[in-house]
Amino acid sequence: MAEKRWRKRTLAGRALAPETLMMGYGYEPALSEGSLKEPLFQTSTFIFPSAQAGKDFFATMQGRRKPGEGEEPGLVYSRFNNPNLEVLEDRLALWDGAEASLAFASGMAAISTCLWAYLRPGDVVLQSQPIYGGTETLIHSILPEFGVRQVGFEVEGGTAAMQAAAAQARQLGRVAAIYVETPANPTNGLVDIAAARAIAESLTDAQGRRPPLIVDNTMLGPIYCKPLAHGADLVVTSLTKYVGGHSDLIGGGASGARAMLAPVRRMRSTLGTMCDPHTAWLLSRSLETLKLRMAAAAEGARRVAAFLRAHPKIDNVWFLDFLPEGHPDRALHLRQNTSAGSTFSFEVKGGEAGAFALLDRLEIIKLAVSLGGTETLASHPASTTHSAMPPDELKRFSITPALIRISIGVEEPDDLIADLAQALDGVP
Ligand SMILES: Cc1ncc(COP(=O)(O)O)c(C=O)c1O
Repeated sequence: MAEKRWRKRTLAGRALAPETLMMGYGYEPALSEGSLKEPLFQTSTFIFPSAQAGKDFFATMQGRRKPGEGEEPGLVYSRFNNPNLEVLEDRLALWDGAEASLAFASGMAAISTCLWAYLRPGDVVLQSQPIYGGTETLIHSILPEFGVRQVGFEVEGGTAAMQAAAAQARQLGRVAAIYVETPANPTNGLVDIAAARAIAESLTDAQGRRPPLIVDNTMLGPIYCKPLAHGADLVVTSLTKYVGGHSDLIGGGASGARAMLAPVRRMRSTLGTMCDPHTAWLLSRSLETLKLRMAAAAEGARRVAAFLRAHPKIDNVWFLDFLPEGHPDRALHLRQNTSAGSTFSFEVKGGEAGAFALLDRLEIIKLAVSLGGTETLASHPASTTHSAMPPDELKRFSITPALIRISIGVEEPDDLIADLAQALDGVP
């Protein structure tokens, strides 16, 4: 099939890098008055060139008709498709190393739409723990109301815990999805994606169908971990975080093979959980600088983490590059991730009082939940993002009263260190 000029991925036999393709891939200026940047297609619907074209567009969208050689799927209605969404999806797929991507109204919209697409009453979800609170609520509290059961395994338990949970889940019913988050929020515990895939494969014979392995890649993705290359079927990302990167939007993505995404697309079109054109436009803008921002933040995080580790008022720093030799997660980190990223946690001496004293004295670093923006944010998981967890679970997952989570931005790292140093001076 003739390659469209705006989807050209090679030059003189050379595969172009996503860094280069982010500036134009998926967008043809000649179709938009030569505009260098894609215009914002702030429209709910699209005019069909003819009644037959409208019939064909619908039939293609609903899977009743195969598009002809080189035919672009026609635009219909912004709940189904929109040029801003399509540009974003084409580019996100490049970073994720995926055949295709879908963009959503939030990370939770992406996660929930994927789960609704694959789960039915009587099914069981196998999930890692801890996971993001919203996902935990969905799997633990809401899906059971629809007859879907859940079995969890602690990330700290490694592959053995995952295998034991899979055996337990199999007793309950058909395991219809394996859902993992790695690194886990907030303590950066890791899940071995290849081992999770092997478990999915091992369930195929017993069930006649392999459960899809869905990986939440928000913390390191899409630059520093590529779950699809390690065996994931679908990778989901809160684009609100690093991809959006400026703390000014909410969005989500799901990437994978077209066939894996087909039921997710159908569910998204029906539920209306897609990203809106303006947010998609902002996200395409942000993708141009994604790698630069993540690299600057990761370097800043490395320096801030080193400062904290050496400070007498700090107990533990859960930074992935600090995993000691011999720790099982160390080899996994080196195999699965290409950086420790820039969100990590640490404990302040003095429990909650010590943590609060530090947080209240910060001047440059802002006290807020969320992560992955250009600005550095600090939060207290036990009393905020994870406060709905029962006390024994908080303890089990090392979410102690002394724990602070920090997401490093792109400020000068020495300024952040100066802020932490002055705040720690005031901690009793
Ligand atoms: C790891 C992780 N996954 C998913 C989400 C949900 O994303 P959103 O807030 O965009 O719905 C978050 C939000 O904090 C998150 O941290």
